[in-house]
Amino acid sequence: MLLIVVNTVKAIYPGSFDPLTNGHLDLIARCAKIVDQLVVGVLSNSQKHPLFSVPERVEMIQEATRDIGNVSVTTFAGLLVDFAQRERAQAVLRGIRAISDYEYEVQMAMMNRRLAPGLETIFMMPHEKYSYVSSRLVKEVFRLGGAVDGLVPELVLERLRARVEPERY
Ligand code: PNS
Repeated sequence: MLLIVVNTVKAIYPGSFDPLTNGHLDLIARCAKIVDQLVVGVLSNSQKHPLFSVPERVEMIQEATRDIGNVSVTTFAGLLVDFAQRERAQAVLRGIRAISDYEYEVQMAMMNRRLAPGLETIFMMPHEKYSYVSSRLVKEVFRLGGAVDGLVPELVLERLRARVEPERY
């Protein structure tokens, strides 16, 4: 009898994604190449005044990742480690853009390790052309009338145009 044991690797990619940037998307594409399944988890109880609702954010990520077969999108509330356990994920993906991200990310990774010793955090770097891109800066620049083309997927840009009337000074 031939017994084949298949070890699959599932990772979660948690975040606020308000909105998804090309940096996030770049990271998703990179990670999807090295894991079997990647679940993007949109935190549903984070900011008090998000620009986009959680369902809108989920929809945008779903649309932007439609062509990547092993990526799915969901929401979570509460502890990240509990979300990982529910998903039966072995790893958490987080992006490091610059050294300034490192301190906070390591703190989170260590706390998560304490809470769930079997859960590994994988740090990956997005393409350097996105090393300064964040959802917060994209929103601020767009709101003040600056160009953010190329920093977010086109479908996100369309939603920004529909949602935000840039302030002119
Ligand atoms: O994209 P963000 O906002 O940097 O993502 C932060 C996120 C969602 C990863 C973090 O806030 C988180 O994990 N929240 C869930 C609550 C939790 O588990 N907190 C303890 C983390 S050590």
